[in-house]
Amino acid sequence: MHEALPPNLSHIHAAVIAAWPEHGAVLQKSVAAFPPDQLLRLDDIADQVLRLVDGDMARYIEGYRWISRMQLEEELHFRRTGGYRNSTFEQAWEQVYSKPEVMGLYMDGLLVSQVLWSNHAQTLLSFTEDFLPRLRPGARVLEVGPGHGLGCALAASHSGNFQVEAWDLSEASLRRTQEHLERLGVDDRVTLRERDATVPLQAGTEPFDALVISEVLEHVEKPVELLAGLAPHLVEGGLLFAGVPANSPAPDHLYLLREPEEALALVEDAGFDVVGHHFHPCTGYSLERAREVKATVSCVVIGCRRSA
Ligand SMILES: C[S@@+](CC[C@H](N)C(=O)[O-])C[C@H]1O[C@@H](n2cnc3c(N)ncnc32)[C@H](O)[C@@H]1O
Repeated sequence: MHEALPPNLSHIHAAVIAAWPEHGAVLQKSVAAFPPDQLLRLDDIADQVLRLVDGDMARYIEGYRWISRMQLEEELHFRRTGGYRNSTFEQAWEQVYSKPEVMGLYMDGLLVSQVLWSNHAQTLLSFTEDFLPRLRPGARVLEVGPGHGLGCALAASHSGNFQVEAWDLSEASLRRTQEHLERLGVDDRVTLRERDATVPLQAGTEPFDALVISEVLEHVEKPVELLAGLAPHLVEGGLLFAGVPANSPAPDHLYLLREPEEALALVEDAGFDVVGHHFHPCTGYSLERAREVKATVSCVVIGCRRSA
C-alpha cells in the first residue's frame, strides 16, 4: 500500500491488495500519475465509491478482477490482429448485453476502476473539474450509458442542482445505476430510461443543456451518426462531455480509434465545436509512449453544439 495515500483510496487499495497481492505494483504505478493535490480530490470521489460499494467490497473486487482479466485477453487478441474482436452490435449483444450476470460483474468492476486506473480517474476529474463547473445552475443534463451510475451520481449531487436524465440499453446497468443512486440518496434527482440511444428520439422533446456520453461511443458501429442524432436534442450552444478511448480492446468495443485526435474529429463531424480536450494515457504510460506502442488513451472532448 502507498504510505501517503489519502484515507478512502488507501481503504480501497488495501482491500484490492488483500484479495489480489500481485496487483499492488499496478496500483502503485497508477498513484504515481497524480500530483498530491489531485490525489486528494480523487479521494473525495473514492469516498463516493465507498458509499456505493456499501460494505460489499468483495463483490466489487470480483468484478474488478473480472474486467482486468477480460481486458488482458482482449489485449492479446488486439496485439495479434491489430483490430477489435467484434464489430457488430449483434456480437456485443450476444456476448455481453444479453447476459445480466456478465453486465453485473462488468459494471461493478468498472466502478472500482474509476478510482484505480489512472486514465479512468483522470477522466472523472476532467468531468468534475472541467465540465460540470461550465454548466449553469439547474441545467438539464442527459447522460447516455451511465453503466454503474457514478457519473450520474456525481452530476446529481453537484451543487449546481442539475436535473439529470440517463438512458441505457442494458437493464442490468440501469439496475446498478438505480441501486447506486439510492445509496447516495440522489435517486429522486435522476430520471432513468431503458433506451437505445441509436434509435432516433421523437422531435419535440424538451431539449437538454448538456450531454454526457462516456465510454459509449466505442460501443456503437457508427458513433458520428449517434452523436449527430443526439445533437438536435440539445439547446444551441449546449455542452457535450464525450469520453472515448483509443486502442482499448473489449468484447463490446466495436469502433476502433487508432489515434487520440480521431476523438476530436468524431465530435466535430457530429456537429459540435471542440472547446476543450484531455488525453489520459493508461496506467504506467506517458502519452508519448502510449502513442508509440498503441496503448490505450482515454480521450475527453468537451464540445459545444454548433448553430444549425
Ligand atoms: C462501458 S459502460 C460506461 C459506463 C460509464 N459511463 C463510464 O464511463 O464508466 C457502457 C454503458 O453504455 C451502455 N450502452 C452501450 N450502447 C448504448 C446505446 N446505444 N444506448 C444506450 N446505452 C448504451 C451499456 O449498456 C453500458 O451500460
